[in-house]
Amino acid sequence: MTTIVMANQKGGVGKTTTAIALASALVNKGYRVLVIDSDPQGNLTAALGINPDTVPGLMDMLCDDAVISDVLIKTFAGDCVPCSILFADADRRLTQPYAFSLLDSKLEEVKEDYDFCLIDAPPSLGILSLNDFNAADYVIVPVNASAFSLQGLSSLFEIIEMVNSRGKHRIDILGILLTRFNPRTRLSQEVLETLDKIAASKGTSVFNTRIRQSVKVEVS
Ligand SMILES: Nc1ncnc2c1ncn2[C@@H]1O[C@H](COP(=O)(O)OP(=O)(O)OP(=O)(O)O)[C@@H](O)[C@H]1O
Ligand SMILES: [Mg+2]
Repeated sequence: MTTIVMANQKGGVGKTTTAIALASALVNKGYRVLVIDSDPQGNLTAALGINPDTVPGLMDMLCDDAVISDVLIKTFAGDCVPCSILFADADRRLTQPYAFSLLDSKLEEVKEDYDFCLIDAPPSLGILSLNDFNAADYVIVPVNASAFSLQGLSSLFEIIEMVNSRGKHRIDILGILLTRFNPRTRLSQEVLETLDKIAASKGTSVFNTRIRQSVKVEVS
């Protein structure tokens, strides 16, 4: 199983939209896909047609004895581990030693059952994101083409380096995904040029595929 996390602590950059689009594309290609909502906002869960407040999910897995098969729900974008707002206090609940590697341990049990695991990270760099990074092989960093989109990228890269420097686990930056791109605006072009430089300095690149600003997605 190859595990990829969509991460950027900046809100509204397209993490959840990317996770769902990628998961359903992989399912359509015939791959076995697991999707994990690690954001207590529960946007991924809700977008897959699940009411996050009525089902067990990530919190039961990380705080209690539940295993993945206890909480999985089948959806059009693969098998989903839901998350609800009840887990908004994850940073207070998960304080024991090795709390940062709970998700990684739980994923061990299903690594032969899926080809891909996609994780939708929350817009923060707390214990849930740390669990995501420690469970993932790769990170995709969605960045929207706006004036403030570059803020915070350096702390994101620092956390990834910290996870890598611990030695046990290696996570690679698969690439930066430019979202809400409008090739006709100067701003989008400028953001792209700056991102190209930042990506190169981190040994990665901006994906050639850019996600256009789309009215269809915005209103859904
Ligand atoms: N290409 C696009 N064009 C237009 N709107 C988009 C596009 N991609 C995402 N959006 C919209 O932007 C908003 C934020 O997207 P999304 O929820 O995927 O971001 P996020 O990074 O997961 O946000 P959060 O940090 O709150 O979890 C949503 O309303 C979504 O429908
Ligand atoms: Mg989201």
